[in-house]
Amino acid sequence: MNPPTVDPTTALHSLQLDERQRAMLAAMGTPVWWPEAITETAAEAKPATLAPATVRPAPAPAAAPVPAPATATAPTANPAIGDLDWDALTEAIQSCQACGLCQGRQNAVPGMGNRSARWMIVGEAPGEQEDKQGLPFVGPAGQLLDAMLAAMGLTREADVYIANVIKCRPPHNRNPEPAEVAQCRPYLQRQIDLVQPDLILALGRFAAQTLLAGVVPDVDKLPLGKLRGQVYRVDGRPVVVSYHPAYLLRSPADKGKTWADLCLAMDALGYNPLTPSAET
Ligand code: URA
Repeated sequence: MNPPTVDPTTALHSLQLDERQRAMLAAMGTPVWWPEAITETAAEAKPATLAPATVRPAPAPAAAPVPAPATATAPTANPAIGDLDWDALTEAIQSCQACGLCQGRQNAVPGMGNRSARWMIVGEAPGEQEDKQGLPFVGPAGQLLDAMLAAMGLTREADVYIANVIKCRPPHNRNPEPAEVAQCRPYLQRQIDLVQPDLILALGRFAAQTLLAGVVPDVDKLPLGKLRGQVYRVDGRPVVVSYHPAYLLRSPADKGKTWADLCLAMDALGYNPLTPSAET
């Protein structure tokens, strides 16, 4: 495969990528460049603008179309979720009936990957393929996610843990309702607490808004383009926001910005894709 063309207007620094990584970036559809703005390390990461770094679930609307009670004051489907081990958590997700999404699912999709990974990827919700297979990001968006990971020298099995904000497929892939996010939020929090990742990559608006709730003022009103491009701290952990792969399939022009976000995340971790095994 030929190396991808470097756009001179964006090629700020050429990166000495090996053949495989160039091929992966080409698969991602991204010109090879290294963003100039990457100077911030995890230690220097901008603190959240609000003092409390705790993550709050989004408030539930009064008229949320879910059968189970889901209010802003009772966002936890099961208050014991915070105590569950991996097996019990997986079982709780697979048998969850806390909102109406359980009625249409073939499979709940807890997550997959390395449960001790440094990287955690958080997406939005399962789609058709994910609902069929019970695994996250196994459809077309997942193929692009795998290409993004490969461009960073990572694989989903060995190097990352992948989860979604919502564990059951919304009908016709509609946006998750705030009450559904609120009900599912404790599952994601428990996954984060169990994995203890060094960095979370939030893909798409729902992942970003869910993870940054209580950290970024009025985060629900901010489009993704305003949230990306910096390293947040949530419970002391760096969080980087980028575009959702499904969006990138529709808007490939934003793949370059996504690569910049991935570079920002790698820089925050002090991770070098050229020497991935040398990471600490
Ligand atoms: N989109 C997501 O956000 N998650 C998946 O698992 C699949 C598609």
